[in-house]
Amino acid sequence: MIMNKSFLWGGAVAANQYEGGYQEGHKGLSVTDVMSAGDVDHPREISYEILDDKYYPNHYGIDFYHHYKEDIKLFAEMGFKCFRLSISWPRIYPQGDELEPNEEGLEYYDHVFDECLKYGIEPIVTLSHFEMPLYLAKKYGGWRNRQLITFFERYAITCFKRYSKKVKYWMTFNEINNLIDTDNPFNAWTGAGVLYEDNENIEQTMYQISHYQFVASARAVQRAKEINASMQVGCMLHFGPIYPSSCNPQDILAGIKAMDKRYFFSDVHVRGYYPTYTLKKWERSNIQLDITDEDLKDLKRGTVDYIGFSYYKSTIAEYDKIHDFIEVQNPLLKKSDWGWAIDPTGLRIILNEVYERYQKPMFIVENGFGAYDKLENGIINDDYRIDYLRNHISEMKKAIELDGVEVMGYTPWSAIDIVSASTGELAKRYGFIYVDLDDQAKGSGRRYRKASFEWYKRVISSNGEIL
Ligand code: BG6
Repeated sequence: MIMNKSFLWGGAVAANQYEGGYQEGHKGLSVTDVMSAGDVDHPREISYEILDDKYYPNHYGIDFYHHYKEDIKLFAEMGFKCFRLSISWPRIYPQGDELEPNEEGLEYYDHVFDECLKYGIEPIVTLSHFEMPLYLAKKYGGWRNRQLITFFERYAITCFKRYSKKVKYWMTFNEINNLIDTDNPFNAWTGAGVLYEDNENIEQTMYQISHYQFVASARAVQRAKEINASMQVGCMLHFGPIYPSSCNPQDILAGIKAMDKRYFFSDVHVRGYYPTYTLKKWERSNIQLDITDEDLKDLKRGTVDYIGFSYYKSTIAEYDKIHDFIEVQNPLLKKSDWGWAIDPTGLRIILNEVYERYQKPMFIVENGFGAYDKLENGIINDDYRIDYLRNHISEMKKAIELDGVEVMGYTPWSAIDIVSASTGELAKRYGFIYVDLDDQAKGSGRRYRKASFEWYKRVISSNGEIL
């Protein structure tokens, strides 16, 4: 079977990681604007405000803000059918709680979308990708606060109305299920503008934040349909299979329990109600949440049209007496320089599992290989990236052609080099286009086509036949 002709091949980015222009056009600060740079051994810091002695890589990104015409032209040259990007919420509502949007921010995205459409590139837009207004975090405590639902809904309505003729595909919260991992403080900060306090019931707060975001997402879905019934709104999850560490039934159960923590989010987004395993968990842990009857109705009315997800790696769960399970390394898989296990078959597995669970169209909106690229005489030979993508696309094709999974498109991470979300480095490169900047954004800023650029161009023009 041949891949569907309307398959959406493209690439993905997020505003905070590539736009730069952090104060241009009356943009407000976002939560990532106060995250310093780190690297593979040193975590980034959340400084809460901008300090003179720190460097903030997201302020400059790769300066797409001023290079968008040149960059989109390169995407068009690769043959992109679509381009996944996010709108920076504080460009549209600089504080987040205003009643009126910032016209300059809206105009900027008009230009970006028009430029894409000029080449027949369909914009795929995430409303919130790790870049909510910092002011909402400081004044309201971020998504701990129910008022955030109203602010987000207003922001979503503004975007839907303004771009209803330019953007068909939307997603609400990027990798919403990262919230479950409360050991990493970045997840609550970038995803929800929340810094947990030592003396609070973190698990309860995490479920409360998630609930408010589910309601906000469900309301956004409803508003989108009212504004333009043909708009499609998806969720966005961080997926990847979690294999049991052995065939010991306790490990098998550990694998299921570990996956439940990821599925909890898609279950609510897709089915519109809380799964019983979560209700039982709340009962057992005496978790008390602010959930109204109206909220529950909203969840039912605002289920998503498709499932957007990122896939980078698989993991392993091993039975553990105290925690139900712990995650361990897979000895059979090779890893990237940042320790991410490379597992193309995992993509086919997760496509099968999720499709069987929901029977909803799936969209692979992130998948890619972070690596140290070398620019030598104007050439970047990133064969390792080609290998990674080739093997993953091949598994995706098997899922479509042999298993019957409905996949709408594939937008590898990332279309062009960007600042890494976890480390703040530019050196952890993902793009098809090399940007001549170092971790401190020093360099010419010139764009170079990597070897993967030409390779991916052929993949797209052959609709995935030539890998
Ligand atoms: C996903 C995020 O988690 O992974 C992206 O949606 C991120 O924003 C990507 O960049 C890769 O992670 P990292 O930390 O290598 O940039």
